[in-house]
Amino acid sequence: MNMQKYHNSDDDYNRWRMQKLADFPGFSDIVVDISDPLKLSVGEDATIRDLLKRAGMAVFRSPPAENTEAAKAMMDGLGESLGLGGRDKNPYSDDDAITPLHVAAGNALKEEGRKLYIPYTDKAISWHTDGYYNPPERYIHTMLLYCVTPAPDGGENSLFDPEIAYIMMRDADPAMIDAMRHPKAMTIPANDIDDAVSRGDETGPVFSFSKKDGSLYMRYSARKKNIIWRDDEVTRRAVTFLENLLSGPDAASSPYMFKYRLAPGEGLICNNVLHTRTAFKDGKDVNEKRLILRGRYNAKIDQ
Ligand SMILES: [Fe+2]
Repeated sequence: MNMQKYHNSDDDYNRWRMQKLADFPGFSDIVVDISDPLKLSVGEDATIRDLLKRAGMAVFRSPPAENTEAAKAMMDGLGESLGLGGRDKNPYSDDDAITPLHVAAGNALKEEGRKLYIPYTDKAISWHTDGYYNPPERYIHTMLLYCVTPAPDGGENSLFDPEIAYIMMRDADPAMIDAMRHPKAMTIPANDIDDAVSRGDETGPVFSFSKKDGSLYMRYSARKKNIIWRDDEVTRRAVTFLENLLSGPDAASSPYMFKYRLAPGEGLICNNVLHTRTAFKDGKDVNEKRLILRGRYNAKIDQ
């Protein structure tokens, strides 16, 4: 979706906006049954790409993998079918660049390190897009989640398409879009402890357009700590607007807001949409310990 083209012309934008809102699916329509993730059928492949275009995401439902290795093989197969190429690695992903999101435990070196980071705890995670601290060459255009084991309680994701956030903000005041496109809109300080990364300060826009295909990219975190917003009235208004859009009193009833708790064999494939995770509670049994596998990709799926 070449959003840059639409962004620059009011007529083109209005036409695209109307179509996008008219075509936006309900939650039950974004769930796709996949019989074999290692070999997508032509129909399954087309449905996933269509949903990525319309809603930024698809939830897939496949026969649950027998173990973690089988789940990883399934993620490899699905990624390959969709033309994703290599995964973006972080120091606490496994060697295959798949990150096992679970409550870190035990004394293994990686587990000790993981304990410092919220994704490896059972705490809630606020609204964000993945890799919001990454430089442009490592922007995460696609995220794949796969549920091996849900927690008995909690661990639900809320999901929101950034193209809808863009539309809502532009409807309210286009000046806020300009503020969010400013190259110094949002700074993440060096050594911020949110995910396993070490880097310098990362300053950049919230909304940008991909140089490759003009598609919209959103870099965002709702965290209050350690996010430095450009000191400007319109920027502050835009930040409040996003907070209200995602977490305000009307957010839960928005037709564009999806909430879902993945079950075994289910996953999310998305254009790195805005998302949260609620807190969860693992059970005592090994089969009651939440394990979600995550793959992050710099490539974007053709849609
Ligand atoms: Fe995330």
